[in-house]
Amino acid sequence: MKDFISVNQLNERRFYQIYENFQDFKNKYKNGETKLSTLRGYSVLLTFFENSTRTRTSFELAGKILGADVVNISSSSSSVKKGETLYDTIKTLEAMHSDFIVLRHSMSGAPALIAKEVKSHVINAGDGAHEHPTQAVLDAFTILEKKGKIEGLKILIVGDILHSRVARSDIKLLSDLGAKVSICGPKTMLPRHLEPFDIDFVYTDLDHALPDKDVVIFLRIQLERQKKPFFSSLNEYSIKYGLNQRRINMMKDDAVIMHPGPVNRGVEIQSELVYGNRSLILDQVENGLFTRMAIYKYLLEN
Ligand code: CP
Repeated sequence: MKDFISVNQLNERRFYQIYENFQDFKNKYKNGETKLSTLRGYSVLLTFFENSTRTRTSFELAGKILGADVVNISSSSSSVKKGETLYDTIKTLEAMHSDFIVLRHSMSGAPALIAKEVKSHVINAGDGAHEHPTQAVLDAFTILEKKGKIEGLKILIVGDILHSRVARSDIKLLSDLGAKVSICGPKTMLPRHLEPFDIDFVYTDLDHALPDKDVVIFLRIQLERQKKPFFSSLNEYSIKYGLNQRRINMMKDDAVIMHPGPVNRGVEIQSELVYGNRSLILDQVENGLFTRMAIYKYLLEN
């Protein structure tokens, strides 16, 4: 496993090996070991061609905690603006002896294409509407920590499934690990062909979907990927698919809510519930740091 491009590369053994790294790093950090040498002498290049707060910052901090030299390449100030291709950009960076290239790109398949061309470890930090594998891993770790298991859990993913790379990676990984994954959203935002996905139920009515679920993952509406309107108004979307107190009351007492972020407050989740007592959103963010440390280590050693 030179690269981490897709959750399809993870079997149960690999997933739990990375989980061991994750727990080890998290425990060490909480015990004050905030400077480690796992990546000393290695370089990490962060190449984000789409905006990011959580993913880019956690990959940067994770690399620095592990002792790597971390360099941020911003597409807006790089020679991409002069018309240089992605291929030439990455070959140029590799010629400077990059060990890890973390790539986010609007084009589905870009990290897989680049991984074939370079010796560096390539990590997919989100490609178009295709995959966001490290997000799926941190989501699974967060569920595992909170619930003690994944197998048998009823997990619901709500919202813009059609445009969501998080949904694709989450559905695949969580169902492979034994969860019963259902989806819910307006018909216009559900993929037409669901055969490739292992989905328990498809709902269009959130009130029907909520009562027996253990985990509910709300997705951001990806307005930047919608070339035409997929719903009549944000207000109508929020009424039909947004989380509010009435819907919290319908859920199981121990059900939790998640969101990969950034949240459109008042649309996917009512503002006061974003960090409420059911929410694991900040746990997801924190676990993103240790997950990315664990993935660097796994790729280095395997
Ligand atoms: N979850 C996620 O990918 O967030 P960012 O776009 O802020 O990295």
